[in-house]
Amino acid sequence: MNVQMTRRTAFAVRCIFSISLLFAACALSPVAQAQQQFTPQPEDPEEFPDGPGRDDAFYACSACHSFKLVARQGFSRERWDETLDLMNERHGMAKLEGKDRELILNYLAKTFPPRTQPRGFQNPFVKQ
Ligand code: HEC
Repeated sequence: MNVQMTRRTAFAVRCIFSISLLFAACALSPVAQAQQQFTPQPEDPEEFPDGPGRDDAFYACSACHSFKLVARQGFSRERWDETLDLMNERHGMAKLEGKDRELILNYLAKTFPPRTQPRGFQNPFVKQ
């Protein structure tokens, strides 16, 4: 074996060693671990307050986004009514009409009304 050959072999060994180190680092990285542990959590209508129209609302709204997005709002009946139009006009939700609309609107307005207390930290020294 000549000197040239030995150098080349040494270079190849170093390359393989660095590449395997890189793989090991990737496998151990927190991102890789998080991906392995991630299991999507399916939503279930049972998670939300019971009432007439709950399942209808759940399936109508969770076709596109999480129902939690809906449940964390607190709107008046008018605002919910406008939201239904907004979802239809802006996002292409099938138009809700007649009894279905009434049922879903009743559920939303009754279950997620405007909050009396604003969320977050309340300064006890400031009068609302
Ligand atoms: C065809 C798809 C679709 C359907 C069905 C749908 N939405 Fe949406 N909705 C969207 C999109 C897109 C957004 C905006 C994306 C986001 O904020 O994640 C959104 C956002 C929202 C928001 C948040 C608005 C904001 O300003 O933060 C509310 C509230 C909402 N939808 C309510 C509803 C309700 C109630 C229903 C069921 C009656 C519903 N959506 C059904 C597509 C849809």
